Amino acid sequence: MDESADALLVVSNRGPVHFEWDAASGVLQAKRAAGGLVNTLGPGAHRHGARWLAASTSEDDMRPEAARLLANDRIGFWPVSVNPELYRAYYDIVSNQTLWFCLHGLWDSPRRPRFDRHWWQAWDTYKQVNELFAAEVDRAAPPAATVLVQDYQLALTPALVARRRPDLRICSFVHTPWCSPDELSALPDEVAATVLDGLVGGGPVGFHSQRWADAFRACVEAVLARPADTFVATAAVDSEDLAAVAASDACESEHRKLRAAVGDRRLIVRVDRLELSKNVLRGFWAYEELLEARPDLRERVVFAALVYPSRVGLAEYQAYGQEVLSLASRINDRWGTPDWTPILVHPEDNYPRSVAALRSYDVLLVNPLRDGLNLVAKEGPSVNERDGVLVLSTQAGASVELGDSAIGVNPFDVSATAKALAEALDMPADQRRLTAERLHKAASRRTPQDWFDDLVDAARSQGGPLAQ
Ligand code: G6P
Repeated sequence: MDESADALLVVSNRGPVHFEWDAASGVLQAKRAAGGLVNTLGPGAHRHGARWLAASTSEDDMRPEAARLLANDRIGFWPVSVNPELYRAYYDIVSNQTLWFCLHGLWDSPRRPRFDRHWWQAWDTYKQVNELFAAEVDRAAPPAATVLVQDYQLALTPALVARRRPDLRICSFVHTPWCSPDELSALPDEVAATVLDGLVGGGPVGFHSQRWADAFRACVEAVLARPADTFVATAAVDSEDLAAVAASDACESEHRKLRAAVGDRRLIVRVDRLELSKNVLRGFWAYEELLEARPDLRERVVFAALVYPSRVGLAEYQAYGQEVLSLASRINDRWGTPDWTPILVHPEDNYPRSVAALRSYDVLLVNPLRDGLNLVAKEGPSVNERDGVLVLSTQAGASVELGDSAIGVNPFDVSATAKALAEALDMPADQRRLTAERLHKAASRRTPQDWFDDLVDAARSQGGPLAQ
């Protein structure tokens, strides 16, 4: 690891890999982490040989074999060991059930949020885990190093690091949307102020879209009565990695299976974490409206939903997962025939299968209620082989770059989504080709390295006493 001022540290809750001990074979296996954050950070971190600090709650991550497996990797994964009990309070209760819900406007307000004594205990733990990360950064960072802190789980870490180590050049990046001052006011004043202070106190704060940066500045203005230094850097798809997965044997075999199941029917696809903000239910309701309105499409179209599990420790996510599965089976019972299953749900984490579906779609539905960016909206057009059409929520950060070449939908409007699906399926071939070309171009305009370099530039624009 370079100990000079060029040294780079990436700090995130989720790390690039985790390890699982396979008792049967007696072999420790490295598993690639699922989700957009790691795909976004990985290529830049790899190119710069960054040290990557991330939470570890498993003893397997700490095994000497894990260190040996990682020794050949240019990314120096530095596991920050967090006691599983503390982790639950910090990750499930504060990060996911509170901050994520607040930023995405997901409150079920007659019931939640509920800031009771259990919640306040969890808040103390959240602060403690952020302190722990700051202490690890302090230990891991050579003088004048650059530190890139990621996301709402570590919202207090940037300011804590800046206080400990004025020599470091820090920026933070928020991958989620940001909410309005009104929505933020659901948080107790002390919590809102501490979160905002934690972010702005550690240098510039980046977002995928201007809209979220503006909302953040409005919150800082309203709560802390000060300006905030923000920047916008839109993440990009790792086309090379995606092309390699698309060409892999695993993806080929999934592709064959999917094509055999779909036959010569048209294919609508969604690829998402099984997550409340992704709006899976309204997507299915829209599909059902489409089948109701268009008898000609019955038996002629299949909807493949690749929805991999996420945050299964939270009751809201478990209930949502159940609701998604029962809605799909109700629709299948109502409309299906012996030869046709209208919705194929794949609720497992199988990346080659997801990429196979992205290669094959005629229509890609990306309809989140609110999304920082949504990388799937870019991954699809980058690997699709069928001039597929994108139906895209206007509430996704990606709609800024892709909106002109996609069919935009208000994610709450089920009927409009049904019409958008129909429009996408009906689009004439020459128009599909032109639109797909435009989409492909728009989705490939930037690389993950461009995004990573924007963060490094933002952090280094701060200077630090030793950098001057
Ligand atoms: C998505 C979001 C990120 C978030 C991540 C966490 O990628 O865009 O903002 O940090 O999910 O997912 P996890 O599965 O680690 O809770």
